[in-house]
Amino acid sequence: MLPEINRTARQLFAPIAADYGVWSRLLSFWQDPRWRRSMIRGLRLPPNSRILDVAAGTGEVTRLLQQEGHQVISLDQSREMLRRAADGGAVAALGRAEELPFAGESFDALTFTYLLRYVEDPLSCMRELARVVRPGGSIGMVEFGRPRGLWGALWRFYTRNCLPLAGKYIGHGWEQVGTFLGPNIDAFWRRFPGDGLIELWEEAGLDRVERTNMSLGGGIFMTGRKK
Ligand SMILES: C[S@@+](CC[C@H](N)C(=O)[O-])C[C@H]1O[C@@H](n2cnc3c(N)ncnc32)[C@H](O)[C@@H]1O
Repeated sequence: MLPEINRTARQLFAPIAADYGVWSRLLSFWQDPRWRRSMIRGLRLPPNSRILDVAAGTGEVTRLLQQEGHQVISLDQSREMLRRAADGGAVAALGRAEELPFAGESFDALTFTYLLRYVEDPLSCMRELARVVRPGGSIGMVEFGRPRGLWGALWRFYTRNCLPLAGKYIGHGWEQVGTFLGPNIDAFWRRFPGDGLIELWEEAGLDRVERTNMSLGGGIFMTGRKK
């Protein structure tokens, strides 16, 4: 039996797979492609690295890595999202981040974007992600942030009022995403205030962990190295 959070994520993403790329760009004001590219640059990957892209979705990160000549496997628990990644040329593996179907130390690097908010136990998931990376290999993540001050107030207004409205207008599943996202991002950062996420990565066996805020704190990326 799957944990509730896995079922929630599956239900959220199945209906939006077809136009995920278009609306995720528009609703983030074209910022999230920039966050993915910055994370990849921050990893400083050796040429021709073997990489596992977890929660690959429709393959946005996978494609950027492939364009740099890396060998990438895209893993996601959503059949619908993964099908789009495969249509775009990804080598796709259906599976859960919490139980990766790969032997330990199989990859030079691992990326995951917008994943940890959808797992029940982020520490044990982080350990599982680190398990499949070789010692000295790197891990990179992108996540939504929570801006502070005036931007924080605007961000709150946007996520609580504009996103649900936009979701209603777009329809076919975006209404759930529009209402789910703001409170879910808030709950995540309440769980990991300050350097909480950095500490989690370190506890999972990573060092040289760095966090970079982008777009006035609306997005963040993190990189680290497997010890
Ligand atoms: C917001 S989408 C992000 C997709 C892609 N990473 C991107 O940057 O566009 C989140 C993805 O995480 C996947 N996901 C959520 N929980 C997961 C889990 N426990 N294991 C594997 N994939 C998961 C969802 O199916 C969805 O495709």
